[in-house]
Amino acid sequence: MNIINARLRGQPSLYSLTVEQGCFSAIEPQSDTLTATPESDTISNTIDAQGNLLSAPFVEPHIHLDAVLTAGQPNWNQSGTLFEGIERWAERKPMLTAEDIEQRVLKTVQLLVENGVQYIRTHVDVTDPSLTALKTIAGLKEKLSKAVELQIVAFPQEGICSFPNGKQLMEQAVEHGADVIGGIPHFEYTREYGVESMHWVVALAKKHGLLVDVHCDEIDDEASRFLEVLATAALEQDMGERVTASHTTAMHSYNNAYCSKLFRLLKKSKINFVSCPTESIHLQGRFDTFPKRRGITRVKELREAGMNVCLAQDSIQDPWYTLGNGKLLRVLDAGLHICHMMGYRDLSTALDLITQNGAKTLQVEEQYGIEVGKPANFIILQGSDDLSVIQQQGEVLYSVRKGEVLVQREPAYLVKTATLS
Ligand code: FE2
Repeated sequence: MNIINARLRGQPSLYSLTVEQGCFSAIEPQSDTLTATPESDTISNTIDAQGNLLSAPFVEPHIHLDAVLTAGQPNWNQSGTLFEGIERWAERKPMLTAEDIEQRVLKTVQLLVENGVQYIRTHVDVTDPSLTALKTIAGLKEKLSKAVELQIVAFPQEGICSFPNGKQLMEQAVEHGADVIGGIPHFEYTREYGVESMHWVVALAKKHGLLVDVHCDEIDDEASRFLEVLATAALEQDMGERVTASHTTAMHSYNNAYCSKLFRLLKKSKINFVSCPTESIHLQGRFDTFPKRRGITRVKELREAGMNVCLAQDSIQDPWYTLGNGKLLRVLDAGLHICHMMGYRDLSTALDLITQNGAKTLQVEEQYGIEVGKPANFIILQGSDDLSVIQQQGEVLYSVRKGEVLVQREPAYLVKTATLS
């Protein structure tokens, strides 16, 4: 396969790329005009990027595939709050079957793939003695592998220490194929349970050689400070880069003096951060009158301090979030606004937040990126660079995995328009 007339991120000229046996074998600059045309003997196997941006695939580092596409079943969340979401989910949960989960997961992964995602980390609720969702999704991993790499987090929605047999269920989840150990310390009954759960989670992951991704301090409570516990455990267990703190929305409300002290530890620990801007702006701040807090972690400040931050969707049409369409560019657009990242430097490198930073969080960097020798996994986006892709909210024109075309799209075009000049 050859790709011609492609723009690469951060590069001014056009490039031609060659793919052999599923990997990039050559990446070379070409003349800076769209003159390259496919050789006649390779025309059927050539993608003409037409000056659009060729990027490494999108990474969705935080989604709940077990809950997707259940909004309104059986009842709609009328208030839109987290708490009504939990009530609506309690009504939907008894209706879960393997068939129901499989059908929704396949539909959603299809949607994500069509929108340029090739790496997914899904949290799956394991506070269910039957572990139906976990077993079902683990069983789909192989089938989905031609299109996406899927990581499964054993996610204790109702707590580890606060839920009957919580620890045993987490251990069983590992036996059934979980790749990542989750947690929810701010939801545990007591601070002591929260602290205990963090040390236990990191130790369990270390014992099995797994990763950690904790729903950490997803609350507006400025006194919710489990992030320091998680980061300390990661540092002391030498697990830093293998550990992720998701949400950390309480950090929005921490005082700056504490945050300054905290950042020293966070940097030392080398842990990763996932923020879900559309979900957090919607679910947090619900106990405020006016002014209302944004309730999103300090994405810009973490990034400027040299830490790894990526963005995620969290939900697609579930009891907590009725919208969502698989488009990470939409989440990125919202995140840039909410986090005050509208300066040129932030905008011109913004795709990092939904590409390589996510890859680092998932620890798939070795196989990820547009480099000779790496698997030919890439997408072609409408636009010539990060800024123009975000400005246009363009479509994913191609998604290619190991040299095989997964998605090819003809963008919509105007049939008729008013003449104004
Ligand atoms: Fe989540």
